[in-house]
Amino acid sequence: MAILITGANRGVGLALAERAAAHKNTVIGTFRGKTAPTLSGIQWEQLNVEAPESHQELAKRLTGVQIDLLVCNAGVYLDRGAALSGGYAKPLWDETFAVNVTGVFFTIQALLPNVQAAQGKIAIISSQMASDTTAPGGSYIYRASKAAALNLGRNLATDLKRQAIPVGIYHPGWVQTDMGGSGADITVEQSAIGLLERFDALNMATSGCFETWDGRNHPY
Ligand SMILES: NC(=O)c1ccc[n+]([C@@H]2O[C@H](COP(=O)([O-])OP(=O)(O)OC[C@H]3O[C@@H](n4cnc5c(N)ncnc54)[C@H](OP(=O)(O)O)[C@@H]3O)[C@@H](O)[C@H]2O)c1
Repeated sequence: MAILITGANRGVGLALAERAAAHKNTVIGTFRGKTAPTLSGIQWEQLNVEAPESHQELAKRLTGVQIDLLVCNAGVYLDRGAALSGGYAKPLWDETFAVNVTGVFFTIQALLPNVQAAQGKIAIISSQMASDTTAPGGSYIYRASKAAALNLGRNLATDLKRQAIPVGIYHPGWVQTDMGGSGADITVEQSAIGLLERFDALNMATSGCFETWDGRNHPY
């Protein structure tokens, strides 16, 4: 199986890439820096999800390559701890939405022919913070961006039903990464094992699902 994972140079993305490669999948991992990570067994491709031209260049390099599973994982959380009074500056909104929302959309749009060629699947890593049902306040930018990513996934699931391409949206857990911090609940390995099981189980009957890494339905 060929899997493409965005933001695969560290965190959850790296753990997903390592584990998928160890299970003999062909893994294309994207990174946004200038130099490809040294980890072998993964085909590294440069992608800055904020830049539409970067998507076009990647799509060109991958012309004719079948992708069985596209994982939109790259993300940022820039407004942690911001104060309602005076915080949440406009540049933080712009960058967060460029990565977490339009970044996801342009990744899928650019690589859809590759997924279609494989009759593949699409996974979007959102967050429990996307949920309108659980609305504890704070982190307005990140929450709004992940809610938008969830909404994108739900609508893509409808549009891609005709092509029998399932789309799933996932909360990876509170994970020990640079984003999650060392005090988070679970390791990257636990998150990756759970998510890969969820991706395996994704089919047309479950398309549009919003699930946690350990297989629970998450309230929208
Ligand atoms: N950790 C958690 O507890 C948690 C909880 C819920 C949801 N999530 C979601 O899970 C996903 C992975 O999170 P993580 O904890 O692994 O985060 P992380 O450790 O901060 O890693 C984020 C990854 O996204 C990449 N990225 C950021 N901006 C990018 C851009 N413009 N273009 C391409 N790649 C970009 C980073 O690349 P660079 O190295 O170049 O910055 C890095 O590879 C994210 O979508 C996050 O929102 C995480």
